[in-house]
Amino acid sequence: MFETIEKEIVKNKQFLNDVIEGLSADSKHISSKYFYDKKGDAIFQQIMHMDEYYLTDAELDIFQTHKCEIAKIFSPEKEPFNLIEFGAGDGMKTKVLLKELLNHEIPFDYIPIDISQNALDQLNKSLTKEMPDLSFKGIQGDYFDVLNKLKEDNNKRNVILFLGSNIGNFTNEEALSFTSNISGKLNPGDLLFIGVDLKKDPRKILLAYNDPTGITAEFNYNLLRRINRELGGNFDIDQFEHHPTYDPVTGECKSALLSKIDQEVAIDDQTFHFAKWEPIHTEISRKYSLKQLHQLANNAGFKVKIDLFDSNKYFVDSIWEIKD
Ligand code: AVJ
Repeated sequence: MFETIEKEIVKNKQFLNDVIEGLSADSKHISSKYFYDKKGDAIFQQIMHMDEYYLTDAELDIFQTHKCEIAKIFSPEKEPFNLIEFGAGDGMKTKVLLKELLNHEIPFDYIPIDISQNALDQLNKSLTKEMPDLSFKGIQGDYFDVLNKLKEDNNKRNVILFLGSNIGNFTNEEALSFTSNISGKLNPGDLLFIGVDLKKDPRKILLAYNDPTGITAEFNYNLLRRINRELGGNFDIDQFEHHPTYDPVTGECKSALLSKIDQEVAIDDQTFHFAKWEPIHTEISRKYSLKQLHQLANNAGFKVKIDLFDSNKYFVDSIWEIKD
């Protein structure tokens, strides 16, 4: 109990420090990792159900079409393995695969890891109810702490799932250091299964982050609301505007919150000045070409085992193994 409260306080300190640092910078920014509080998790669920947000349907299509093949790649001889998911969220797509693995009577442990304890609690509830035969243990925290433990316990294959184009939130350098870090912690025979949104008609991409209903805008505004709730900020949300852009050259879909007026905002005991139309950069959702993705795999010490596509080729689930 006390441990949980202490953890909360440390986390909030980190949030406050990051917000202050980001809003004091010459070009203001706040990390998209702070989108995901309880409210943010719920808005992201709504996003995944929007027609404009094609990513979730595309990846679900891949899972439904290729689930049998995937099960055989993960465990060709029905040997036991660990299925570790980074950023599991509600597990909607993963459940298709979990059911398939159970149907094949493959012995495996499912280990979802998420920064959001709220998301894990909900996943725990739904898995217990829907898949009573599943062996699973959710872990709240840092991906790499878990990987370090698995490297030591190397008598089973480890398969890492990193779905939903979460890698898109990283800059090029971050994506390379993240995937290199993973390859350094895997043993021969282990796999990385990575879901990535591909470059496509720029209008289709932009619409996914600029839905006319305003759900994605609300997702961004929640960041300011969260600062008000948790850090004692006084953002007037109506004085900010959600502004997404997509650049097909870099593949970066970027979101920013623009200040509609010249204004001051107080957080804790500090004030921040916003010039009229000054942006706070909040998120990058990078889109890859298949070639760029394969270069990333290669540079990070992986070789590509197989690419699985949805019927529109909007999205790819690429399975990587470490180079020998
Ligand atoms: C969960 C990070 C993959 O970047 O597409 C959805 C988050 N942001 N709409 C993405 C998001 C705006 C999403 N990821």
